Amino acid sequence: MQRIFSGIQPSGIPTLGNYLGAIRNWVALQADHDCIYCVVDLHAITVWQEPKLLVQQTRELAASIIACGIDPARSILFHQSAVPEHAELAWIFNCVARLGWLNRMTQFKDKAGKDRENASAGLYVYPNLMAADILAYHATRVPVGDDQRQHLELANDIAQKFNHDYGVEFFPVIEALILGPAARVMSLRDGTKKMSKSDPSDQSRINLNDSADTIAQKIRRARTDPEPLPTEPAGLAGRAEARNLVGIYAALADTDEEDVLRLHGGKGFSSFKEELAALLVESLGPIAQKTRDLLSEPDHIDQVLHEGAARAASICRPIVSKTKQIVGFLPT
Ligand code: TYM
Repeated sequence: MQRIFSGIQPSGIPTLGNYLGAIRNWVALQADHDCIYCVVDLHAITVWQEPKLLVQQTRELAASIIACGIDPARSILFHQSAVPEHAELAWIFNCVARLGWLNRMTQFKDKAGKDRENASAGLYVYPNLMAADILAYHATRVPVGDDQRQHLELANDIAQKFNHDYGVEFFPVIEALILGPAARVMSLRDGTKKMSKSDPSDQSRINLNDSADTIAQKIRRARTDPEPLPTEPAGLAGRAEARNLVGIYAALADTDEEDVLRLHGGKGFSSFKEELAALLVESLGPIAQKTRDLLSEPDHIDQVLHEGAARAASICRPIVSKTKQIVGFLPT
């Protein structure tokens, strides 16, 4: 069985983008893969996180992941800081990755913005930690949204350079699994921007804990253009907002753009939006309810994460230990 690794930051409430681009695929992959899923709190602190909020968000995210359908008895679910091997391997990778490679990372440029000099060093070396997360388990398949593609290419460059420099065939090649019609869910206010937990406007996203009324209201207000929906996917060219809503619908209905447009093409947005909102409420309502139920027993969530961390550590410890031996560290 191939090993899967993926992660998500506890930097806010998970969004529809996280769900359709990643978590929903994580759930499906459990059937025939050995899966390890991680709440990446070390990544979260590359930008400021209020400590009390970070603890709460880590627990809430774990609950939400379980509510989406991750079964912690089958898959491993844990928080990154509980397994120090991630940070240890990331340090070694800091010494393998080249500055030129990191300078090309578009996500760093986006997140650091104009005030680059004031960004944390952690934000800069963020992709090296991501490579360590995956390679510490010799995972070969990584289900992510489209925005992580460049980071996974960098992880492969790191693995290859490590193997080459030390003359070993130790780290495997990683395959990015970027799946489905909603691998890049866009903001509801601006079809050129990614839907994100950290967007200052709450109207730009659907949060996994939004109520039915809030979902309906956000979809009703979602930006669109005045034209009716096209009858085939080619007609979505240059219509980012329309494409986004059609992609979301297709993902939720387990179909593709073509099928959605066969049904809704030629209609205006108002009836389409109503159906989309109903579909969202039907999919997300039970997840929000289950998350709330799980959070009424926070000790149970902590226990799940704790057990997950022990299982994760038992897999990555020998791999990181072997890495240290390859690098030439004296055994402890
Ligand atoms: P994060 O927390 O930003 O997002 C978690 C997952 O959700 C996907 N995603 C989206 N997919 C579609 N449309 C969107 N608008 C959208 N927004 C987010 C992301 O692509 C991701 O799959 N660096 C990663 C976390 C990470 C990781 C890893 C992932 C850390 N270590 C190792 C894979 C393997 C991140 O910040 O994800």
